Amino acid sequence: TGGLTTIDPGYKNTGSCTSAITFLNGEEGILRYRGYSIEDLADKADFLEVAYLLIFGELPTTTQLEKFHSDIKAQSHVDEDVKKILDGFPKTAHPMGVLSSLTSALIAFNPSSVNVDSEEDMYKAIVNIMGKFPVLVAWALRKRTGQPLDYGDDSLGYVDNILKMMFKKPNSEYKVDPIVSNALDKLLILHADHEQNCSTSTVRIVGSSHAGLFASLSAGISALWGPLHGGANQAVLEMLEAIKEDGGDTKKYMAKAKDKNDPFRLMGFGHRVYKNFDPRAKIIKVAADEVLEALGVEDPILDIAKGLEQEALNDPYFVDRKLYPNVDFYSGIIYRAMGIPVEMFTVMFALGRLPGWIAQWKEMRENKEPIGRPRQVYTGENLRSFKEASDR
Ligand code: SDX
Repeated sequence: TGGLTTIDPGYKNTGSCTSAITFLNGEEGILRYRGYSIEDLADKADFLEVAYLLIFGELPTTTQLEKFHSDIKAQSHVDEDVKKILDGFPKTAHPMGVLSSLTSALIAFNPSSVNVDSEEDMYKAIVNIMGKFPVLVAWALRKRTGQPLDYGDDSLGYVDNILKMMFKKPNSEYKVDPIVSNALDKLLILHADHEQNCSTSTVRIVGSSHAGLFASLSAGISALWGPLHGGANQAVLEMLEAIKEDGGDTKKYMAKAKDKNDPFRLMGFGHRVYKNFDPRAKIIKVAADEVLEALGVEDPILDIAKGLEQEALNDPYFVDRKLYPNVDFYSGIIYRAMGIPVEMFTVMFALGRLPGWIAQWKEMRENKEPIGRPRQVYTGENLRSFKEASDR
């Protein structure tokens, strides 16, 4: 057994690293990026400012932010040949698979991105992916909708440019709706980092073998795709739709969620760390009301979601297990009101998480962390002799 006697499935009680980036207190529902509260940042900062804070450790001056943005814009051109890879996918391909593949494909077109030994090379790789990733996100959407691909507009802000690349219709000017722009900016901030969650741990462990930044991010996107992780925001909408189709019978679904023999889970509920409210869910729930009202969108599933939350808060099964709504419970309702299709919800999560993944990967490399290589407790066969096929 290599001397090991116990293991820690899912690393529930294992710390993988020290980190100075994000602080969580699960009991009190506290989340801070580099010491700033998520409430303050969601309310007062913009997404690119928060990306800078996570990656470089300080809120940028106006000059620093302008330089960061212009260096990013200078890298926002994705080689035309990447479109040939995108062309190879069927329209029905899940956008997370497209995004993970194209992120990895970018390495071939940006070979120098794997060299991060100097601070300057690390910076170049970071602004490179910060410039190209939003283009891939928009292209993943446009592939599904059959619309022409767009490279964006350097005169726009970072988030406004993403909206334009996603939603500009071929035959008309695109005017950014400030309600949508502010809502997306806030959502991206709320998703930007979350210490050693599954996908961030994936980015760190892949990077610990000194695989490049883009390869590590591609692996992180795949980990985020799972319905127990970032894929939950899509699963929540599908669950709420099913409940609506089923006549809004939330009690039936609560019973299914509590039935040990039923694999159904109340998606968007529960969290490994938060044993109180997820502070992000609180902010998103308020934003959902504000954004839908401002957009004049009536969405009955918001009421179903609120009904489920109310029932769970009064149900011993959920209260005893400290299961509360997490970041994925209400976010999809806002994305849908903004015209984002449900298959793109986890891609939007990845877009928000990009700076966090980058910051954590950079910290892992700067701390010269050893290659991730856990041990096991062996439970297989003892030594045995080989048998010829005729004797088996
Ligand atoms: C994200 O880690 C992060 O920080 C992730 C994230 C980030 O920003 O990166 O916050 C983003 O991934 C949020 C989580 C999105 N996932 C979902 O909403 C899927 C539904 N939730 C669960 O599958 C679950 O709650 C997890 C995965 C979030 C947490 O799983 P744990 O910590 O391994 O807890 P567990 O599965 O051991 O559950 C403990 C108990 C079990 O019951 P018992 O066996 O003790 O009787 O609670 C039950 C579970 O059955 N339970 C649920 C439930 N979640 C847990 N029962 C019904 N519905 C649920 N959603």
